[in-house]
Amino acid sequence: MVPEKIAENVYSMRINHFNRRMFDALIPLPDGTSYNAYLVRGTGKTALMDSADPEKKDALFDFLRDVEKIDYLVAHHAEQDHSGSLPFVLEKYPAARVAANPRCKEFLMSHLHLPAEKFIEVKDGGRLDLGGKTLRFIYTPWVHWPETMVTYLEEDRILFSCDFFGSHIATGELFSDEKTVYGPMKRYYAEIMMPFRSSIKSNLEKIKELELALIAPSHGPIHKNVKFALDAYKDWALSEAKNKVLVAYISMHGSTLLLVNRLVSRLQEKGVPVEKINLDEFDIGCVAMALVDAATVVIGTPTVLAGPHPKAVYAAYLANALRPKTRFVSVVGSYGWGGRALETIAGMISGIKAEALKPVMVKGMPTADDLLEVDALAGLIAEKHKSLAFS
Ligand code: FEO
Repeated sequence: MVPEKIAENVYSMRINHFNRRMFDALIPLPDGTSYNAYLVRGTGKTALMDSADPEKKDALFDFLRDVEKIDYLVAHHAEQDHSGSLPFVLEKYPAARVAANPRCKEFLMSHLHLPAEKFIEVKDGGRLDLGGKTLRFIYTPWVHWPETMVTYLEEDRILFSCDFFGSHIATGELFSDEKTVYGPMKRYYAEIMMPFRSSIKSNLEKIKELELALIAPSHGPIHKNVKFALDAYKDWALSEAKNKVLVAYISMHGSTLLLVNRLVSRLQEKGVPVEKINLDEFDIGCVAMALVDAATVVIGTPTVLAGPHPKAVYAAYLANALRPKTRFVSVVGSYGWGGRALETIAGMISGIKAEALKPVMVKGMPTADDLLEVDALAGLIAEKHKSLAFS
């Protein structure tokens, strides 16, 4: 493989992983992913920005086959999809030093057993002069680990952002096409960045004065249209929830489905857009993406084994952990003779700072009166949404 030039003496070493289907044994990757390293050559020193998942280290070494010397290995983030090949790169370039912040150094020493003498520590705002190429390090904690940082290449106005602004997509396109990358970028944000909205806000502040020609993340294509990437993050992280209801449900014998269908139909009649997701066949990425901007989340569950259906539990756990900007939550569902499905789900989503709307839990198949309760819930949601100023 041949490095692709993105600026004078700056190269992308992007390794597409087309057939990877799961990340962290948790996150589905319908479009695959890529691990992007970048090589920056100064007149005196050479730096490699990040490495690659160790599963793809041979591809990285193919890129590096004509690179005789590397002086610095800049580690923006200790997660192994970027750092995992560092031990092998250090074997090939034993004089190289890993440039990392103290927290990242600590993580790399514990996760990869890199020895302390292989590091130079970089400070927030600190610079490294490669000779006509100046790397400025900017700590950007919690996008999405505590040690994450980015590097600004001053002469070329390139921001190497690692996971920040990244997207899980394997593509032949070096630069992002907005229509193609928007979905994968939103999915990526939803799955790993969303819980850290306040950190994203402060990190966006931190980089807002930089003049940017390119944002070069370590997953997915490079953003030439930097405004597109910045505006997308501002919308997802900073703006208010939108006029949308996520109804995530599962039904065993059709009773919960009757409630869900009635709710969806009444909400649509009232002009409230709904995203209805059947948890029987769900991809957590779709639920996570819907959580990015839905003002209301309704979980639909039957009662089984005296509690909520395990797939509803999974969705509720995920919603709680992702800490979306949801304003209202509720539950609809059914039971045969008892159980604590409602209480369990309500307890599980208590971390979402949202107003709980009166749930509808019915015995057996919903009666006409039960369906009127659903209508009332739909009406309440529509009223609540009217009270919000949606953009
Ligand atoms: Fe792409 Fe958090 O690693």
